[in-house]
Amino acid sequence: MPGLTLLCNIARMSVGPRYVKIAPSILSADFSRLGEQVEAVEEGGADAIHLDVMDGHFVPNITIGPLVVEAVRRRTSLPLHVHLMIDRPADYVSRFAAAGADFLIVHQENNWTLHRLLAEIGEANVTPGVALNPTTSVAMLEESVPFVELVLLMTVEPGFGGQQLIPTMYDKVARLRRFLAERGRASVQIEVDGGVNGDTASGLVASGADVLVAGAAVFSAGVTVGEALVHLRTAAESSLWRSHLES
Ligand code: DX5
Ligand code: ZN
Repeated sequence: MPGLTLLCNIARMSVGPRYVKIAPSILSADFSRLGEQVEAVEEGGADAIHLDVMDGHFVPNITIGPLVVEAVRRRTSLPLHVHLMIDRPADYVSRFAAAGADFLIVHQENNWTLHRLLAEIGEANVTPGVALNPTTSVAMLEESVPFVELVLLMTVEPGFGGQQLIPTMYDKVARLRRFLAERGRASVQIEVDGGVNGDTASGLVASGADVLVAGAAVFSAGVTVGEALVHLRTAAESSLWRSHLES
């Protein structure tokens, strides 16, 4: 019953340590019944849906476009985090906005006029986010961080689901958390993407992550989507509750 899961989340938000959001990535969902899968993650207590758009250029894979975002929009009221791994994202801002995106996340690596692009996303009434690939330094955000509400850190090389998290990424999350605080941008959400599961979630949260993207850990875990979400959330919050109760 969605009501109950939502009530639990609200209770958790009010009494516990900081609240961690979970955004299942539909890249690992069964596309032959995508609508059901989207409803199942909302029913299971997810906080947002992560949609990976790939064009076969920026990354060596081709996935979805505005049509699928629009279809997902019709099956859920959850916020849609649209992750654009494409060349020329500026050409598609209005179409993803019309499709129902709540966040449009573009990469720092291939957008030379990023200030203009982030402004165009805001003008389309969509929240702008910027993404970094694993080997792109946090320092690259110095001039773009004033213009975003979310930073996505790729914790695997982009292009595919089901990969292993790169172990040096825990420290990168912690450095980004400090970087944001030192620049008066502590409210900017840190979303981590790639290899998030029951073994890696608590370390990422302890390092400062706010939003956990999870594909294989939700849709290919060998249990129901609801059970997978409970498992992931329990793991994610374990380090927070420990430090909360010890404080
Ligand atoms: C990869 C995508 C990720 C991916 C995550 O380029 O950006 O969102 O779907 O999948 P898992 O959680 O399976 O690593
Ligand atoms: Zn993604």
